Amino acid sequence: MEQTLSIIKPDAVAKNVIGKIVDRFETNGLKIAAMKRVQLSAADAGAFYAVHAQRPFFGELVEFMTSGPVVVMVLEGENALSKNRELMGATNPKEAEAGTIRADFAESIDANAVHGSDSLENAKIEINFFFCGREIA
Ligand code: CMP
Repeated sequence: MEQTLSIIKPDAVAKNVIGKIVDRFETNGLKIAAMKRVQLSAADAGAFYAVHAQRPFFGELVEFMTSGPVVVMVLEGENALSKNRELMGATNPKEAEAGTIRADFAESIDANAVHGSDSLENAKIEINFFFCGREIA
């Protein structure tokens, strides 16, 4: 049984499609093991995306991720990590396959509706960033 971190980003929260996105996960066999809505500070977003600190888009990424509330979740299930990435579609919504979350709800590579962990090692780090043990059940 795997766990992975999912974030519904400020663009999708502003569009009021939290429920529609959560439904994709549940319909496809993933369990929501933890979930909360949070407003990230610049320090929070910078720390979460520290691996991208040297990338040219880092400033915009932090600005965007703090532009409104996000919903963070722990998704649990068999092959949860790859299943989530499949359901999200490509990072750039213009390249995302039809029927994926990003193809259906995202506008641009910055405002791309959702984030998902890219490896099991990072999933552990990202889950611990947002949740303590008793919040995951
Ligand atoms: P995410 O999966 O949250 O991880 C980092 C984010 O940076 C990514 O989704 C995109 O929203 C954003 N981003 C902006 N520009 C780029 C880029 N050129 N390559 C990758 N990610 C980018």
